[in-house]
Amino acid sequence: MNLILMGLPGAGKGTQAEKIIAEYQIPQISTGDMFRAAIANQTALGLKAKEYMDRGDLVPDEVTNGIVKERLAQDDTKNGFLLDGFPRTLDQAKALDEMLADLGKKIDAVIDINVPEEVLVERLTGRYMCRSCGASFHKVFKPTKVEGTCDRCGGHEFYQRDDDKPETVKNRLAVNIKNSEPILAYYKEQGLLKSIDGNRDIDAVFKDVQAIID
Ligand code: AP5
Ligand code: MG
Ligand code: ZN
Repeated sequence: MNLILMGLPGAGKGTQAEKIIAEYQIPQISTGDMFRAAIANQTALGLKAKEYMDRGDLVPDEVTNGIVKERLAQDDTKNGFLLDGFPRTLDQAKALDEMLADLGKKIDAVIDINVPEEVLVERLTGRYMCRSCGASFHKVFKPTKVEGTCDRCGGHEFYQRDDDKPETVKNRLAVNIKNSEPILAYYKEQGLLKSIDGNRDIDAVFKDVQAIID
Protein backbone atom coordinates (compact mmCIF):
# COMPACT_ATOMS: atom_id res chain seq x y z
CA MET A 1 0.00 0.00 0.00
CA ASN A 2 1.65 3.17 -1.25
CA LEU A 3 -0.01 6.29 0.13
CA ILE A 4 0.36 10.04 -0.05
CA LEU A 5 -0.90 12.20 2.80
CA MET A 6 -1.65 15.74 1.70
CA GLY A 7 -2.90 18.77 3.57
CA LEU A 8 -1.85 22.32 4.31
CA PRO A 9 0.55 23.03 7.18
CA GLY A 10 -1.16 22.02 10.41
CA ALA A 11 -3.82 19.89 8.72
CA GLY A 12 -2.72 16.91 10.80
CA LYS A 13 -0.51 14.95 8.41
CA GLY A 14 2.03 14.07 11.09
CA THR A 15 -0.69 13.31 13.63
CA GLN A 16 -2.52 10.92 11.30
CA ALA A 17 0.75 9.45 10.00
CA GLU A 18 1.66 8.38 13.53
CA LYS A 19 -1.59 6.39 13.73
CA ILE A 20 -1.33 4.97 10.20
CA ILE A 21 2.20 3.62 10.63
CA ALA A 22 1.26 1.99 13.94
CA GLU A 23 -1.84 0.36 12.46
CA TYR A 24 -0.49 -0.69 9.06
CA GLN A 25 3.26 -1.13 9.69
CA ILE A 26 4.47 0.95 6.78
CA PRO A 27 7.21 3.59 7.08
CA GLN A 28 6.39 7.30 7.19
CA ILE A 29 8.44 9.37 4.78
CA SER A 30 8.15 12.99 5.91
CA THR A 31 10.34 15.39 3.96
CA GLY A 32 9.88 18.00 6.70
CA ASP A 33 11.11 15.53 9.36
CA MET A 34 14.06 14.56 7.13
CA PHE A 35 15.04 18.21 6.71
CA ARG A 36 14.70 18.86 10.46
CA ALA A 37 16.92 15.83 11.18
CA ALA A 38 19.50 17.17 8.70
CA ILE A 39 19.39 20.58 10.41
CA ALA A 40 19.85 18.98 13.83
CA ASN A 41 22.87 17.05 12.49
CA GLN A 42 24.22 20.20 10.81
CA THR A 43 24.75 18.50 7.46
CA ALA A 44 25.16 20.40 4.18
CA LEU A 45 21.58 19.44 3.29
CA GLY A 46 20.38 20.82 6.61
CA LEU A 47 22.17 24.14 6.15
CA LYS A 48 20.64 24.53 2.71
CA ALA A 49 17.11 23.53 3.78
CA LYS A 50 17.11 25.75 6.85
CA GLU A 51 17.24 29.04 4.97
CA TYR A 52 14.05 28.14 3.07
CA MET A 53 12.24 26.55 5.99
CA ASP A 54 12.83 29.50 8.31
CA ARG A 55 11.09 31.76 5.81
CA GLY A 56 8.25 29.31 5.27
CA ASP A 57 9.31 28.79 1.64
CA LEU A 58 9.69 25.47 -0.14
CA VAL A 59 13.09 23.83 -0.40
CA PRO A 60 14.04 23.65 -4.13
CA ASP A 61 12.58 20.67 -5.99
CA GLU A 62 15.90 19.14 -7.03
CA VAL A 63 17.04 18.94 -3.41
CA THR A 64 13.75 17.51 -2.16
CA ASN A 65 13.34 15.05 -5.03
CA GLY A 66 16.86 13.76 -4.41
CA ILE A 67 16.27 12.83 -0.78
CA VAL A 68 12.91 11.19 -1.56
CA LYS A 69 14.40 9.14 -4.36
CA GLU A 70 17.09 7.82 -2.04
CA ARG A 71 14.57 7.09 0.69
CA LEU A 72 12.12 5.23 -1.57
CA ALA A 73 14.90 2.95 -2.75
CA GLN A 74 15.39 1.59 0.79
CA ASP A 75 14.28 -1.89 1.64
CA ASP A 76 11.66 -1.05 4.25
CA THR A 77 9.35 0.39 1.57
CA LYS A 78 8.79 -2.99 -0.05
CA ASN A 79 5.38 -3.53 1.59
CA GLY A 80 4.36 0.08 1.21
CA PHE A 81 5.07 3.59 2.41
CA LEU A 82 3.34 6.74 3.53
CA LEU A 83 4.55 10.01 2.03
CA ASP A 84 3.87 12.97 4.36
CA GLY A 85 4.43 16.42 2.87
CA PHE A 86 5.66 15.21 -0.50
CA PRO A 87 4.88 15.99 -3.31
CA ARG A 88 4.26 19.67 -2.71
CA THR A 89 4.67 21.00 -6.25
CA LEU A 90 3.45 19.64 -9.57
CA ASP A 91 7.07 19.06 -10.61
CA GLN A 92 7.61 16.96 -7.51
CA ALA A 93 4.48 14.94 -8.34
CA LYS A 94 5.81 14.24 -11.82
CA ALA A 95 9.28 13.42 -10.50
CA LEU A 96 7.65 11.00 -8.05
CA ASP A 97 5.89 9.21 -10.89
CA GLU A 98 9.24 8.67 -12.57
CA MET A 99 10.89 7.42 -9.39
CA LEU A 100 8.07 4.96 -8.81
CA ALA A 101 8.05 3.79 -12.43
CA ASP A 102 11.78 3.00 -12.07
CA LEU A 103 11.01 0.97 -8.95
CA GLY A 104 8.01 -0.78 -10.54
CA LYS A 105 5.61 0.80 -8.03
CA LYS A 106 2.61 3.10 -8.10
CA ILE A 107 0.54 5.24 -5.76
CA ASP A 108 -2.66 3.57 -4.48
CA ALA A 109 -4.34 6.59 -2.91
CA VAL A 110 -3.81 10.26 -2.12
CA ILE A 111 -5.52 11.30 1.11
CA ASP A 112 -6.08 15.04 1.36
CA ILE A 113 -6.95 16.39 4.82
CA ASN A 114 -9.04 19.57 4.58
CA VAL A 115 -9.02 22.15 7.37
CA PRO A 116 -10.04 25.84 7.19
CA GLU A 117 -7.20 28.32 7.24
CA GLU A 118 -8.09 30.03 10.53
CA VAL A 119 -8.06 26.66 12.30
CA LEU A 120 -4.63 25.90 10.82
CA VAL A 121 -3.17 29.07 12.31
CA GLU A 122 -4.47 28.08 15.74
CA ARG A 123 -3.07 24.57 15.41
CA LEU A 124 0.37 25.67 14.27
CA THR A 125 0.89 28.45 16.76
CA GLY A 126 -0.21 26.18 19.65
CA ARG A 127 1.90 23.19 18.64
CA TYR A 128 4.88 22.06 20.71
CA MET A 129 7.36 19.26 20.12
CA CYS A 130 9.25 16.82 22.32
CA ARG A 131 12.97 17.60 22.19
CA SER A 132 14.04 13.96 22.49
CA CYS A 133 11.62 12.02 20.25
CA GLY A 134 9.98 14.68 18.06
CA ALA A 135 6.40 13.81 19.06
CA SER A 136 4.05 16.74 18.52
CA PHE A 137 1.42 18.05 20.91
CA HIS A 138 -0.94 21.01 21.13
CA LYS A 139 -1.58 23.36 24.05
CA VAL A 140 -5.35 22.95 23.73
CA PHE A 141 -6.15 20.13 21.29
CA LYS A 142 -3.59 17.50 22.27
CA PRO A 143 -1.82 18.25 25.56
CA THR A 144 0.50 15.64 27.05
CA LYS A 145 -1.38 13.25 29.38
CA VAL A 146 0.91 14.21 32.25
CA GLU A 147 1.88 17.86 32.24
CA GLY A 148 5.49 18.38 31.20
CA THR A 149 6.06 14.70 30.26
CA CYS A 150 6.07 13.35 26.69
CA ASP A 151 3.46 10.61 26.17
CA ARG A 152 5.73 8.74 23.83
CA CYS A 153 9.19 8.80 25.40
CA GLY A 154 8.81 10.32 28.87
CA GLY A 155 10.99 13.30 27.92
CA HIS A 156 10.59 16.59 29.77
CA GLU A 157 11.96 19.11 27.28
CA PHE A 158 9.77 20.71 24.63
CA TYR A 159 10.24 23.37 21.98
CA GLN A 160 8.32 25.30 19.34
CA ARG A 161 9.28 24.75 15.69
CA ASP A 162 11.00 27.85 14.25
CA ASP A 163 8.51 27.91 11.38
CA ASP A 164 5.53 27.93 13.78
CA LYS A 165 6.12 31.55 14.73
CA PRO A 166 3.09 33.61 13.65
CA GLU A 167 5.01 35.66 11.04
CA THR A 168 6.31 32.51 9.29
CA VAL A 169 3.01 30.66 9.49
CA LYS A 170 1.39 33.26 7.25
CA ASN A 171 3.87 32.77 4.44
CA ARG A 172 3.90 28.97 4.81
CA LEU A 173 0.15 28.84 4.37
CA ALA A 174 0.20 31.16 1.35
CA VAL A 175 3.01 29.22 -0.36
CA ASN A 176 1.32 25.87 0.23
CA ILE A 177 -2.15 27.01 -0.82
CA LYS A 178 -0.74 28.26 -4.11
CA ASN A 179 1.17 25.05 -4.83
CA SER A 180 -1.37 22.48 -3.70
CA GLU A 181 -4.16 23.20 -6.17
CA PRO A 182 -2.42 21.88 -9.30
CA ILE A 183 -1.32 18.70 -7.48
CA LEU A 184 -4.82 18.03 -6.19
CA ALA A 185 -6.14 18.43 -9.74
CA TYR A 186 -3.40 16.12 -11.02
CA TYR A 187 -4.38 13.29 -8.67
CA LYS A 188 -8.09 13.91 -9.05
CA GLU A 189 -7.78 13.39 -12.77
CA GLN A 190 -6.13 10.03 -12.10
CA GLY A 191 -8.94 9.00 -9.76
CA LEU A 192 -6.55 8.75 -6.79
CA LEU A 193 -7.70 11.71 -4.71
CA LYS A 194 -9.68 11.08 -1.51
CA SER A 195 -10.56 14.22 0.42
CA ILE A 196 -11.53 14.10 4.08
CA ASP A 197 -12.77 16.66 6.57
CA GLY A 198 -9.86 17.24 8.95
CA ASN A 199 -11.65 19.75 11.12
CA ARG A 200 -12.86 17.15 13.61
CA ASP A 201 -11.21 15.41 16.50
CA ILE A 202 -8.14 13.30 15.76
CA ASP A 203 -9.86 9.91 16.12
CA ALA A 204 -12.82 10.89 13.93
CA VAL A 205 -10.41 11.92 11.18
CA PHE A 206 -8.51 8.65 11.58
CA LYS A 207 -11.73 6.63 11.10
CA ASP A 208 -12.09 8.22 7.66
CA VAL A 209 -8.46 7.50 6.88
CA GLN A 210 -8.93 3.86 7.84
CA ALA A 211 -12.07 3.56 5.73
CA ILE A 212 -10.08 4.71 2.70
CA ILE A 213 -7.14 2.40 3.37
CA ASP A 214 -9.27 -0.65 4.14
P1 AP5 B 1 6.58 19.97 7.16
O1 AP5 B 1 7.29 19.55 8.37
O2 AP5 B 1 5.99 18.95 6.29
O3 AP5 B 1 5.47 21.02 7.60
P2 AP5 B 1 4.03 21.35 7.02
O4 AP5 B 1 3.59 20.78 5.76
O5 AP5 B 1 4.00 22.82 7.10
O6 AP5 B 1 3.10 20.58 7.95
P3 AP5 B 1 3.18 20.46 9.49
O7 AP5 B 1 4.15 19.41 9.89
O8 AP5 B 1 3.39 21.82 10.08
O9 AP5 B 1 1.70 20.07 9.82
P4 AP5 B 1 1.01 18.63 9.88
O10 AP5 B 1 0.01 18.56 8.81
O11 AP5 B 1 2.00 17.53 10.00
O12 AP5 B 1 0.23 18.82 11.25
P5 AP5 B 1 0.42 18.10 12.68
O13 AP5 B 1 -0.05 16.71 12.62
O14 AP5 B 1 1.75 18.36 13.24
O15 AP5 B 1 7.51 20.93 6.27
C1 AP5 B 1 8.24 21.96 6.89
C2 AP5 B 1 9.03 22.73 5.86
O16 AP5 B 1 9.99 21.85 5.22
C3 AP5 B 1 8.22 23.34 4.70
O17 AP5 B 1 7.67 24.58 5.03
C4 AP5 B 1 9.31 23.43 3.62
O18 AP5 B 1 10.15 24.53 3.83
C5 AP5 B 1 10.11 22.15 3.83
N1 AP5 B 1 9.55 21.05 3.04
C6 AP5 B 1 8.98 19.89 3.51
N2 AP5 B 1 8.54 19.11 2.49
C7 AP5 B 1 8.86 19.78 1.36
C8 AP5 B 1 8.65 19.50 -0.02
N3 AP5 B 1 8.02 18.37 -0.43
N4 AP5 B 1 9.08 20.41 -0.93
C9 AP5 B 1 9.73 21.54 -0.54
N5 AP5 B 1 9.94 21.87 0.75
C10 AP5 B 1 9.52 21.00 1.69
O19 AP5 B 1 -0.67 18.93 13.51
C11 AP5 B 1 -0.51 20.30 13.77
C12 AP5 B 1 -1.00 20.62 15.20
O20 AP5 B 1 -2.42 20.43 15.26
C13 AP5 B 1 -0.39 19.72 16.28
O21 AP5 B 1 -0.18 20.48 17.43
C14 AP5 B 1 -1.47 18.64 16.52
O22 AP5 B 1 -1.45 18.17 17.84
C15 AP5 B 1 -2.75 19.41 16.22
N6 AP5 B 1 -3.79 18.57 15.57
C16 AP5 B 1 -3.59 17.64 14.60
N7 AP5 B 1 -4.77 17.10 14.23
C17 AP5 B 1 -5.73 17.73 14.96
C18 AP5 B 1 -7.17 17.60 15.03
N8 AP5 B 1 -7.84 16.73 14.26
N9 AP5 B 1 -7.82 18.39 15.89
C19 AP5 B 1 -7.14 19.28 16.69
N10 AP5 B 1 -5.80 19.42 16.65
C20 AP5 B 1 -5.10 18.65 15.81
MG1 MG C 1 4.11 17.37 9.89
ZN1 ZN D 1 9.18 12.33 23.39
